[in-house]
Amino acid sequence: MRHLAPPDTVVAPLGSAATSMLGSNAANGPSARSGVALSLESPSSRYPFPPYANGWFRALYSHELPGGEVKPLHRLGREWVAFRGGDGQPRIFDAHCPHLGAHLGVGGTVEGDAIRCPFHGWLWNGDGRCVEVPYAKRIPAKAQIRSWRVVERNGVVFVHHDATHRAPSYEVPEFPECSGEGWTPLEIRHWTVNSRWLDMNENAVDQAHFRFVHGTPTIPEATVEVEGHVFRVRNAVKMNTPRGVIEGELTTTDYGPALQTVHISGAVDTFMLNTATPIDAETTDVSFAYAVRLAPGQQGRGVGAARIRDLEHQFEQDRAIWENKAYWERPMLCDGDGNFGAYRRWMKQFFSEPSA
Ligand code: FES
Ligand SMILES: [Fe+2]
Repeated sequence: MRHLAPPDTVVAPLGSAATSMLGSNAANGPSARSGVALSLESPSSRYPFPPYANGWFRALYSHELPGGEVKPLHRLGREWVAFRGGDGQPRIFDAHCPHLGAHLGVGGTVEGDAIRCPFHGWLWNGDGRCVEVPYAKRIPAKAQIRSWRVVERNGVVFVHHDATHRAPSYEVPEFPECSGEGWTPLEIRHWTVNSRWLDMNENAVDQAHFRFVHGTPTIPEATVEVEGHVFRVRNAVKMNTPRGVIEGELTTTDYGPALQTVHISGAVDTFMLNTATPIDAETTDVSFAYAVRLAPGQQGRGVGAARIRDLEHQFEQDRAIWENKAYWERPMLCDGDGNFGAYRRWMKQFFSEPSA
């Protein structure tokens, strides 16, 4: 990791690197939404950047897709079908059958590693190629359904999206905290939030909000580290606990635009696997999965329940801000604010022009 800058030195507006990502150097407000990015937006969007970033997104948790099951998914403004074949591999295809448009996730059935359409029985293999039309002598040469790149890791099925159809530029890491070894099983929570994750996630560098939204006794000291697709913020925090104010560390690490871990030390060592998947241009499915480190001899669920309740409460505090805030391309920052410039420059790498 390369140390970039302490977060307490930003005085000026974010500057050209942050604003040019949005294709505009104009002032804040609706009139600022011009240039390249605007052409990707609906006129009512409050964000001057495209709704769907490039990277790995949680499609669903592994346990939500048992062997032989088919699930419809509405994610990234698209309709998908997810299924798990006889080889145990999860697969995600475009939902609508190329024949006459049936939704494969509604009545489709798994056969081996393939999925059969409920409408006229065409069979699509694990690569999305049609391998059987039960009532025809010839399979149309172009009978192919789009198959999306998928990886299953940390109890999550991730799908890769790239607006220009490029291969992934990074991989999803494996986190030992998700293994259950020495940690509680993941406690999973979901929220549907009327906001975009990359706007919500700016929280990571917003040290002042801890004091005013979450009521921490002080504003934490933070350092930011950026390396390629990884963005890490280490915060030295003081936390209110039933035993009084204690010192701890809160580290958030982003791996691409939609996967984040949080490590909190202090009273209880806590790990969070945070994933955020756009449902459509303005709505995000946010999920936090919590694990708490077990003391030697300690067992299972329920450990750290109070800490998890507190973190859920914090989410609701943030949510009220997120769902109602505006996105300023040139916020009026002061010297006590966090390193928003570093965050926005990092975020820029996950956007590209869509292809037709
Ligand atoms: S619509 Fe799928 S087989 Fe006809
Ligand atoms: Fe927050």
